[in-house]
Amino acid sequence: MQFIPEYREDLPRVERFNFVSRMTHWGHTVTFILCLLTGLLLFMDGMDWMAPIFGGFNGANMVHRVAAVFMTLFIGIFVVFDFKGIINWIKDILRFGINDIKFIMVFPLEFLGFPVKVPPQTRFNGGEKGNSIVTPTCVILLMLSGYIMWFPMIFPAGLVRISYPIHDLAMIFATLMVCMHGYLGSFHPGSGESFWGMWKGTVRKDWAQHHHAIWYEETYGDKTKDAE
Ligand code: HEM
Ligand code: HEM
Repeated sequence: MQFIPEYREDLPRVERFNFVSRMTHWGHTVTFILCLLTGLLLFMDGMDWMAPIFGGFNGANMVHRVAAVFMTLFIGIFVVFDFKGIINWIKDILRFGINDIKFIMVFPLEFLGFPVKVPPQTRFNGGEKGNSIVTPTCVILLMLSGYIMWFPMIFPAGLVRISYPIHDLAMIFATLMVCMHGYLGSFHPGSGESFWGMWKGTVRKDWAQHHHAIWYEETYGDKTKDAE
């Protein structure tokens, strides 16, 4: 395993994510992790050792709900201030095609760190398109079931009852996805450069050309040719 690739200011870079996407992404990452740790403490006996960190079970319950409200706010900010970005994101997911299927077929090798030729990808590759559907769906289910459990008096009893297993299952799926996603977006030798896109907003031009050739060509191709 290597650490996050060095941020190379000396090499040409291209913009990948705007400020609102980055701020809300890291906002929901921090709140997701806080909800996960405090939720696991409430969920599993084996996690009792974490209780003192959050000031006991009542403290953990409080942190869970405060983090949940902030998570909702970050998602709200994303929707209000980058609605166009969300529409473009959805349009990109809907472009799922043969190159995405080819990507998913070579992905296990790419994940294990073998050098693979990535078929030309749009803004999000086949795996990221999958992640863009599964993880946000789980987060929406976590939010809906979470608020229903929080205010059981205003919802039908049956809905409150099924919210518990929904919350737990969505937590398990989202956590598995986030573990894989977090590794790919940071320490992974091939795709770790994407971290800088989410942290500082830009990625190396050569990396963008290799990993997201279609997106690069559509977004910067003509401009680069004009400048040459
Ligand atoms: C808006 C988002 C969320 C809200 C409103 C919310 C709310 C709640 C509430 C009210 C409870 C019940 C606490 C109790 O037993 O009294 C709970 C439990 C729990 N939450 Fe969340 N939560 C949210 C997000 C998350 C996230 C992101 C995770 C993890 C990834 C998570 C994991 C858990 C777990 C594991 C439990 C324990 C469930 C059980 O006892 O069966 N929650 N949540
Ligand atoms: C654990 C630490 C995390 C790291 C290091 C990380 C890193 C990244 C990076 C680098 C990207 C941009 C990928 C690209 O260039 O296309 C990204 C996108 C994204 N992140 Fe995260 N992320 C983390 C946690 C989370 C969490 C907790 C969630 C949601 C619960 C999440 C949801 C997403 C989604 C939906 C995308 C867009 C689709 C994709 O690129 O897969 N991330 N993340």
